[in-house]
Amino acid sequence: MPENNVVQIVSLTPEYAQEAARLHIEGINQGFISSLGIDFVTALYRAIAQDPQSFGYVAVKEGKVVGFATFTANLKGLYKSIMKKNGFQFAFLLFRKLVSWRIIQKVFETLFYPSRIKKYQFPEAEFLSMSVSPEARGHGLATRFVEMGFNECQKRGIQELKILAAVTIGPINKMYEKFGFKTVAHIENHGIVSNVYVVRTDHFAKS
Ligand SMILES: CC(C)(COP(=O)(O)OP(=O)(O)OC[C@H]1O[C@@H](n2cnc3c(N)ncnc32)[C@H](O)[C@@H]1OP(=O)(O)O)[C@@H](O)C(=O)NCCC(=O)NCCS
Repeated sequence: MPENNVVQIVSLTPEYAQEAARLHIEGINQGFISSLGIDFVTALYRAIAQDPQSFGYVAVKEGKVVGFATFTANLKGLYKSIMKKNGFQFAFLLFRKLVSWRIIQKVFETLFYPSRIKKYQFPEAEFLSMSVSPEARGHGLATRFVEMGFNECQKRGIQELKILAAVTIGPINKMYEKFGFKTVAHIENHGIVSNVYVVRTDHFAKS
């Protein structure tokens, strides 16, 4: 895989937010977040990059971002920090998109997602999102993101992570099955059923 040698993985910083947003919209195009448009999704990745309890990576090849992955140690904390620091900006960006009752409902479903899943007592830490551009797929980039993310979680004292993956997305569920991740529940968000995996962050260290 020679082209993989020239792919560099670096931390997600605000300057990469727009590229990550573009890849999110292209790769996770059936998701609700994507439907909110490039400005909103860019603001979201900028907020994730600036949140001390969250982190991510981007893969850069010849100056172009070809993949990213993001994690948070504390999902509720991330939501709070976004509302506190970027509340007005998000409200403004959302206002332009609030064209239907269904979208308003979905926004509220997203905002109340942490409290809706509280009853399951899943870990607060979450693997938030990942996408690799079609031309860079199949070379182990996603695997590297997951392993690096798990290592960073361990450094931060995070012992377990939850991961949601829509049941309809074959490749990502195949990847988690290959890693030996076990589904612990199914939850519905925005009409999409997702597998929920809860995984120890020393998963790869043990195997
Ligand atoms: C899922 C995705 C991140 C995988 O990225 P990738 O860099 O190609 O993944 P890797 O090369 O590390 O593959 C790891 C394993 O995943 C599985 N996998 C990846 N792509 C697959 C595919 N198209 N079909 C079946 N299994 C697949 C395989 O088990 C693979 O291991 P193997 O090559 O040893 O068989 C990429 O396809 C993608 O970005 N898809 C669109 C966005 C998305 O679905 N994101 C996840 C939801 S947040």
